[in-house]
Amino acid sequence: MDQASAGPVSETVDSMLFRHVVGHLATGVTVLTTACDDQRFGMTASSVTSLSVDPPTMLACINNAVPTAGAVARAGRYVVNVLGEAQGQLAMQFAVPGPDKFKDVRVHTGALGLPVLSDALAHLECDVVEQVDGGTHSVFIGRVRSAVAGQGQPLTYFRGDFGRFEFARDDRVYKKARHRVLSRVYPANEVILLDDLVNELKVDHSAAFYALTRLAADGLVRRDPDRGYVVTQFDVTVSDETFDARLAIELGVIDLSIGHTADAELAELRARFERMASLLVGDRFVDFDDYLDANYAFHEWLVSLAHNPLLTATFGGLSIRSVMTRSFGSTPTTSQKFIDVQRDLTEAFERADRAAARTAARAYCTLAKQRVREILAHTGGRL
Ligand SMILES: Cc1cc2nc3c(=O)[nH]c(=O)nc-3n(C[C@H](O)[C@H](O)[C@H](O)COP(=O)(O)O)c2cc1C
Repeated sequence: MDQASAGPVSETVDSMLFRHVVGHLATGVTVLTTACDDQRFGMTASSVTSLSVDPPTMLACINNAVPTAGAVARAGRYVVNVLGEAQGQLAMQFAVPGPDKFKDVRVHTGALGLPVLSDALAHLECDVVEQVDGGTHSVFIGRVRSAVAGQGQPLTYFRGDFGRFEFARDDRVYKKARHRVLSRVYPANEVILLDDLVNELKVDHSAAFYALTRLAADGLVRRDPDRGYVVTQFDVTVSDETFDARLAIELGVIDLSIGHTADAELAELRARFERMASLLVGDRFVDFDDYLDANYAFHEWLVSLAHNPLLTATFGGLSIRSVMTRSFGSTPTTSQKFIDVQRDLTEAFERADRAAARTAARAYCTLAKQRVREILAHTGGRL
């Protein structure tokens, strides 16, 4: 781990910090089901894992305060229903207490006589062989009596939100395709056909399709109902509008949050800044993709300091990544000034200096817009 992201060593870790840090451990999502006293129980759970292969054993950690914990203890058995990527809504349905959590859910009775979610990606039916005390939670160790897997991709959980799983090899294909768009192998307004991409990159259809959908999410191509995937045009207006919109949000965040930020929040802002700074050395990106991720993470955190979900969602809706990729990502050279001005911004938050933060945010926006103009000047104003 680099020093920038190393947390302070203390006897105990603050629960808010723990929640944030442990959220980086990505998991799958399951619904645990059981039944007792003629009643069905089900709850969303991510603290579920395989314990051993021989004998096949699972474990599930359940909060003693929720009714499902008592029900599993009484029934002495449970089913782990592994959710598929389209079942985020189902996960939410089983994550809140309610009189009928199984409403509109397809269920059948499994080998142990328990309710099994028919559309889940996989099921493991278990007999409880041990219940271990874990403070607020109980660890239910379960011997697997029946295991069935279907087809599809899993739902994932990372940093408090649901997402999709992706194979690293698909990511490599996406990066190659993106490089072709950025280096203008495919010029603006050209159609990229799925079969062409398959042949040019010598990859299978699913990896090529994944690359196209991700390029569309980045804003580098758009899906035209008649023509297919068309390379979008990028110009100074798109850049100015995007950076101005980010500035407007960040100025609002500065007004709302400066002077009201917790020490742990400022420490995280600093850690994200240091990570970003380590990826821009001299006037060059160490690795543009890593810099982009770190830069986005820094600004995303800054916006989250306002504790306003609408502002956070509006920020998430800006095509910041696409604009930066199409402009800054087309050349390894950049300017150390980007780091200087974002350091000013970080320090202004640390000093609770609203005026200095506003100045730094404006300077950063101006710098970004100017840099895009410089890059576009080499390509006739468009990419
Ligand atoms: C993604 C996610 C994962 C969760 N994982 C667990 C878990 O592993 N253990 C647990 O006790 N609660 C977990 N919960 C919370 C329970 O789903 C929630 O308390 C639920 O209401 C319990 O159901 P019940 O009240 O009907 O028993 C999780 C919630 C979500 C959204």
